[in-house]
Amino acid sequence: MTRISNSVKETEAIAAEMAKSLRGGECIALDGELGAGKTQFVRGLVAALGGDPHSVSSPTYVLLNIYDRGRLKVFHLDAYRVGGADDFEAIGFAELLEQRGVVVVEWAGRVHDLLPKSVIRVKIEAVGETERQIEVS
Ligand SMILES: Nc1ncnc2c1ncn2[C@@H]1O[C@H](COP(=O)(O)OP(=O)(O)O)[C@@H](O)[C@H]1O
Ligand SMILES: [Mg+2]
Repeated sequence: MTRISNSVKETEAIAAEMAKSLRGGECIALDGELGAGKTQFVRGLVAALGGDPHSVSSPTYVLLNIYDRGRLKVFHLDAYRVGGADDFEAIGFAELLEQRGVVVVEWAGRVHDLLPKSVIRVKIEAVGETERQIEVS
């Protein structure tokens, strides 16, 4: 499924739509260049689940943010600065996948081998100043 977003609001709405289908235990792999809108997508997802969208930021340095105010706990990871699989294993990635929350990974391609087979892939591409192509597979 491919969608076009023309604004941050639309990207958040597309994420909110996806949130409706989440039951817990899912892993969402986000890919796209810096500034594509991966974090905005997570913000929309967290808001739709009933969490606090203002608390959402790229966990580039901390590796993991947890948003636990919504109907499902969201574990937000960022593999941008990850040296290798070891770093992800050190923060207990495998255990996070078993928490029945929603595990969302930015720069997921960097930890491709660690992701579950059932992963939901979201690829965001900037095609203009505010236009984004969002492909869910
Ligand atoms: N349609 C859009 N969807 C998402 N972000 C957009 C869109 N148009 C412009 N932007 C801007 O692009 C940037 C996306 O930033 P961010 O979500 O942090 O990207 P990433 O996490 O992929 O590096 C923000 O500054 C946002 O305002
Ligand atoms: Mg980000």
